[in-house]
Amino acid sequence: MRKPIIAGNWKMNKTISEAEQLIDEIKNQKLNESVEAVLCVPYLSLAKAKEMTKYTNINIGAQNMHWEESGAFTGEVSPTMLNEVQVDYVIIGHSERRQYFNETDETVNKKVLSAIYHGLAPIICVGETLEQREENIHTSLVAEQIKAAFSNVSNEDATKTVVAYEPIWAIGTGKTASSEQAEEMCALIRNTIKALYGKETAESIRIQYGGSVKPGNVSELMSMENIDGALVGGASLKSSDFVKLINY
Ligand code: 13P
Repeated sequence: MRKPIIAGNWKMNKTISEAEQLIDEIKNQKLNESVEAVLCVPYLSLAKAKEMTKYTNINIGAQNMHWEESGAFTGEVSPTMLNEVQVDYVIIGHSERRQYFNETDETVNKKVLSAIYHGLAPIICVGETLEQREENIHTSLVAEQIKAAFSNVSNEDATKTVVAYEPIWAIGTGKTASSEQAEEMCALIRNTIKALYGKETAESIRIQYGGSVKPGNVSELMSMENIDGALVGGASLKSSDFVKLINY
């Protein structure tokens, strides 16, 4: 049995004081304990978020990291820095990072290997653009993204990861993939992992769907066999919506 995992990706939203208020609103409501809740907050709020969720079941994630431990990489944040604030998860290879910050399958793989080495669970993002779907290359593209992300990752380490399928055309557009489209791609991802690591590992890895997930569509998405969670942007910024997603 895979424990459902609903993660909020706040992106570049919320100052420290705003983050404090939102976390306060979320943690003071009744949350379904059989669903894992994760808040991926901006770097500046990580320490505060960790402190505020200490006696709760809420886990905290970063939205990116560099693969090196230290060095001349102006503006970057390292895995050892995330370790010191006891961050649990780190989003790797979000499409916005691939699109605006030139992240490639190769740098995604470096970050995945480094995150695992440092005991941070990576949430590995994959997904196609609308053009790629229209050209009908989305399945091979996503399979390639998965193979590249898991390159040199051992079978045991692979089980420590979470994968997020986020079709770029559904992010922040209000256009959700239909539950069938999302399920088809999450099944393809699981099959790709199965070909790499075998059935047991493939069955243990949690796969999230991301792209305009909201209270109105979460339960249908979550009813799909290969969808084990959601990576949520917009709807994670409002406590009442995020709590509804956790309690779907
Ligand atoms: P939205 O939920 O705002 O579409 O964002 C999805 C996303 O990119 C989560 O990482």
